[in-house]
Amino acid sequence: MSRKFIVGGNWKCNPASMKEANTLLKEWKKSLPSVDKSKVDVVICPPALWMTTLSPAIEALGMQTCAQNVGKNDAGAFTGEWTAANLLDLNIKWTLIGHSERRTKYGETDADVAEKVAKCQEIGVNVILCIGETLEEREGGKTDEVNKRQLAAVIPKVKDWSKIVLAYEPVWAIGTGKVATPEQAEETQAAIRAYIKGAVSSDVADKLQIQYGGSVSPDNCAELITKPNIDGFLVGGASLKPTFMEIVSKVG
Ligand code: G3P
Repeated sequence: MSRKFIVGGNWKCNPASMKEANTLLKEWKKSLPSVDKSKVDVVICPPALWMTTLSPAIEALGMQTCAQNVGKNDAGAFTGEWTAANLLDLNIKWTLIGHSERRTKYGETDADVAEKVAKCQEIGVNVILCIGETLEEREGGKTDEVNKRQLAAVIPKVKDWSKIVLAYEPVWAIGTGKVATPEQAEETQAAIRAYIKGAVSSDVADKLQIQYGGSVSPDNCAELITKPNIDGFLVGGASLKPTFMEIVSKVG
C-alpha cells in the first residue's frame, strides 16, 4: 500500500519575532526543493497569533498552514479559545491535537483530545493526532499500551478517517536529540497500524498516514523514511532552520 508522505513543521512557541519568522520563510524559499505534491504534503504550524499573517507566504511555498491546537467548544464564552470553525474561516484546514506538551504541560486528557477530534470531524478540519509514551512508560514496556489507550479514546469519535493523520512522538525523543532508532519507530508504528486494523478496519489501517516525531533532523530522516510504517515526520526544532528543506527534500 503506497501512502502519500506528510511532513509537519511544528514551530511551537517560536521563533521570538515575526521578523525572524519571515526571514526563515525567505531562507526556505532560497533552497525550496522541487517536491512532487502528489507524493508529499507539507504543513507548517506557526504560533496561533501568526497563522493568518504567515499563511500567504507558507502557501506560496506550496505548503499548508496548520494550527497547533484547537478548542473543543463552539463559539461562546470560552475565554482564550478558538474553534475549529474559526480555523476554516481563515482557510486553515489542519490542526495538531493532543501534542504531548498539551497533555503534560496543560493537562489535556484523553477525553479532551477525543472531544477536540470530534469537533474537527464535525467541522471538517484535518487532524494530526499526536500520541506517544514517556521514557518511564517505554522502560516499563508500556509503549503499545499507552498508544492504544490514547487511540481508543479517539476512535469512537472518528467518522472520516481520511481527515486523520497520526503522529507517533515518543516523549523521550522530543527536544532531546535522542531520536528513536529506525527499528524502534518502525516496530511501534507497525503496532499502531495493527491496532487500528483490529479496532477499526484493514482499509483504514492501510490508508492511515503515520508520522514519526522526536528529534528528527536532516541527518537521521533518510533512514527513518525508508521504513514501511513511517509515512513522514512531525518536526520541531529542525523546522525552525533553513535546513528543514533538506528534510522535505529527502522525503519528497
Ligand atoms: O511536534 C513535533 C515535536 O514534538 C518534535 O520536536 O524538536 O524533537 O523535533 P523535536
